[in-house]
Amino acid sequence: MIEAKSLTRRFGSLLAVDRLSFEVEAGEVLGFLGPNGAGKSTSMKMITGYLPPSSGTAVVGGHDIVSDSLAARRLMGYLPEGAPLYGELSVGQFLAFVAGIRGFAGRDARSAVSAAVDRLDLHEVFNQTIDTLSKGFKRRVGLAQAILHDPAVLILDEPTDGLDPNQKHQVRRLIRSMAEDKIIIISTHILEEVEALCSRAMIISRGRIVADATPTELVRRSRYHNAVTLMADRLETAASVLGELDEAREVEIREGRLTVFPSGRGRLYEAISRTLAEEGIEVSEIQLEAGRLDEVFREVTREEAA
Ligand SMILES: Nc1ncnc2c1ncn2[C@@H]1O[C@H](COP(=O)(O)OP(=O)(O)OP(=O)(O)O)[C@@H](O)[C@H]1O
Ligand SMILES: [Mg+2]
Repeated sequence: MIEAKSLTRRFGSLLAVDRLSFEVEAGEVLGFLGPNGAGKSTSMKMITGYLPPSSGTAVVGGHDIVSDSLAARRLMGYLPEGAPLYGELSVGQFLAFVAGIRGFAGRDARSAVSAAVDRLDLHEVFNQTIDTLSKGFKRRVGLAQAILHDPAVLILDEPTDGLDPNQKHQVRRLIRSMAEDKIIIISTHILEEVEALCSRAMIISRGRIVADATPTELVRRSRYHNAVTLMADRLETAASVLGELDEAREVEIREGRLTVFPSGRGRLYEAISRTLAEEGIEVSEIQLEAGRLDEVFREVTREEAA
């Protein structure tokens, strides 16, 4: 388990992380979201013991990251922002070096390296110097380094940043496959990734938690939750008839699509289908919305800024 207790970090007069407190259990994939500069990376650096907190602490698997840092770090794999690596080493040399500092030797070291190389698909660059790798491959070497000792806790700062679509898919699969018995904290700016990967999402703004819920719960806070969005010919006509429905609260046309918001009375979707058929308006696309995470993100981070 991870327990963050009033974790705080100041840089001069800037309060980058402001009394962050939360608990995470094994089996959870926690996503850190938030605007640039919100304090996500700084929080991760403190949890992994790379940056001392100004006050507060975190306890990882029973070990305090300030007073018992080494024991806490043993339990964790960490992919830092930008993945600083030893650029002059080859991928193979670097991973062997990491295996060594993680306490593996001989055959165990070789098999740990080879498992990580398999999982991140690094065979073709095994003998290449890290400095000469493309950005995505550097990222994958960083991930291989983080998972090499099969840690109970993984802290991954934007793990899919810079990866091509195939590799994004691969890495998400990898994270999902490791999720069952680990604690995984990732930060990301890709909201679909949160919905696809995280069992819990924490939105951080100006160093503070402004939302902490499952992605489904967050999406439900969107004003688009249970709205119906459609594309049709005669969109203006559709908007004015549908706006009159008792089931509708209001309508909005944006980017060539009409959205009808529910009043909470009756079944909106059915009422819309019926009305459009009666009016002879042809629909090319219609969907009942779960909600929009990007809109919730903007709302909660704006409220905070205001
Ligand atoms: N070493 C440092 N010295 C001074 N200020 C710092 C330092 N590290 C971070 N900061 C500041 O702390 C704040 C939080 O930065 P942090 O990197 O944690 O943000 P983030 O949420 O990870 O943002 P991003 O989405 O851009 O990665 C920012 O205002 C940043 O400029
Ligand atoms: Mg960051």
